[in-house]
Amino acid sequence: MTLRLSCLMVAGMALLTGLSACTTQQRHAWLTVFFEGVPPLEGAPQRAAAGNVAAAPVSNAAPVRVTNSIPILPHAPYIQHKCDTCHSPERPREMKGTQQDICYPCHTNVLTSLKVRHFPAQKWLCLSCHAPHLSPVAKLLREPVTTLCYTCHDSLDEKNYVHDPVKRGLCLACHTPHQSQYPGLLKQTGDSLCLGCHKPEAMEAAAGHAGIGDRKCLQCHDAHQSGKKGRLK
Ligand code: HEC
Ligand code: HEC
Ligand code: HEC
Ligand code: HEC
Ligand code: HEC
Ligand code: HEC
Ligand code: HEC
Repeated sequence: MTLRLSCLMVAGMALLTGLSACTTQQRHAWLTVFFEGVPPLEGAPQRAAAGNVAAAPVSNAAPVRVTNSIPILPHAPYIQHKCDTCHSPERPREMKGTQQDICYPCHTNVLTSLKVRHFPAQKWLCLSCHAPHLSPVAKLLREPVTTLCYTCHDSLDEKNYVHDPVKRGLCLACHTPHQSQYPGLLKQTGDSLCLGCHKPEAMEAAAGHAGIGDRKCLQCHDAHQSGKKGRLK
């Protein structure tokens, strides 16, 4: 799997040069990471805009003005007008510091001592996935998980045999978004990940399972997709 690194590097460096390497969708996704006011793409779910409070004194601003029927879920410090926990009190349009400076004091549990960390979380690019003020998607996500992961990762839903939870975009059935104690950001290690949903009795009938012995599921099956029936490798 190759990663859409061109886009990621752009995000990491917070530069706009080089954006031409990305598709319109990705470009938009990355632009909105750094510029809240970027208008929504045609056909994209309408995101809540904070622009309508820009002109008002920060501490007196009405934080949520909903102009359509999409429910908007606010971030606690935003709805509570704690604007200057993130914004510079002197220059309200500027941030007080880096994302790590801003997010960490209130969210010390997101990255703990677990050794496997998701690259954008490790780099404190929290806003590549989360909106700071409001979102129509739970957990302040910029997009539903079904599309969020594919803004950086190549599609896992292209071959003839796609695993049912992958097809449905349920990445978080197996992966964690920030950190994990297991390689691959997995929620479980080895066969127990698979046996959380598959019962050995129900699998016994399948041809390949006569002599599995101590061979691991992933020796024969791909976790996501394959061109071969049974998603065999
Ligand atoms: C959790 C941190 C956080 C809080 C709390 C917060 N903001 Fe923001 N705000 C941000 C971030 C991050 C951005 C995007 C900045 C960027 O990408 O450069 C932003 C952007 C903005 C912008 C620029 C948006 C635009 O469309 O140009 C305005 C205006 C703004 N915030 C106002 C407010 C007001 C008013 C409050 C309090 C009601 C508030 N913010 C509370 C983090 C926060
Ligand atoms: C002043 C403290 C404060 C700051 C700063 C802050 N948060 Fe939060 N955040 C909160 C609180 C409080 C909640 C609600 C927690 C809860 O319900 O358990 C929350 C919830 C969240 C949630 C979950 C929302 C949900 O609907 O469950 C996300 C995601 C989040 N914050 C991301 C961020 C990011 C990213 C930053 C940095 C840009 C940030 N926060 C900065 C206090 C803060
Ligand atoms: C790759 C995308 C991604 C990045 C980067 C990311 N998050 Fe998240 N975050 C998520 C997703 C997805 C969820 C929802 C998890 C769920 O529903 O089980 C989430 C949930 C949360 C929550 C709610 C509590 C929880 O753990 O479920 C908080 C708080 C949070 N993130 C803060 C942060 C902070 C702070 C950073 C930066 C260090 C960050 N996130 C970086 C995707 C991301
Ligand atoms: C902002 C870009 C971005 C987003 C969004 C994103 N990822 Fe990643 N992800 C990365 C990068 C960069 C790496 C590191 C790639 C590498 O090491 O080759 C990575 C690595 C991974 C890995 C491998 C981790 C390891 O240690 O082997 C998994 C699994 C993963 N991502 C799952 C997800 C899932 C699930 C989502 C959606 C919730 C998601 N990613 C969203 C950028 C992203
Ligand atoms: C049924 C569980 C499961 C689901 C659902 C799942 N994954 Fe995975 N994923 C895995 C396993 C297991 C690995 C480790 C593969 C290995 O070691 O051979 C992995 C590895 C990865 C990697 C690391 C690179 C690679 O291909 O090995 C990325 C990135 C990734 N998954 C992204 C995603 C995204 C995005 C989704 C949602 C569209 C998703 N995964 C859904 C189980 C799952
Ligand atoms: C979140 C639940 C879940 C997890 C975890 C899970 N699966 Fe599945 N798996 C499914 C569902 C649902 C189907 C479709 C079942 C059906 O069609 O009867 C499926 C089907 C399959 C199939 C049949 C071929 C196919 O693609 O339809 C294989 C093989 C398979 N899974 C292997 C695995 C392996 C190996 C793992 C561990 C990496 C795993 N599964 C983890 C839910 C899961
Ligand atoms: C020695 C290789 C091998 C190993 C190891 C293996 N499988 Fe399979 N599995 C197969 C073959 C071959 C099939 C039949 C594929 C087909 O033709 O549809 C199969 C079929 C399946 C099916 C579909 C069953 C059905 O109803 O048709 C599931 C689910 C499955 N395997 C899950 C697993 C899980 C979970 C593990 C780990 C506990 C595992 N497999 C380990 C080779 C293997």
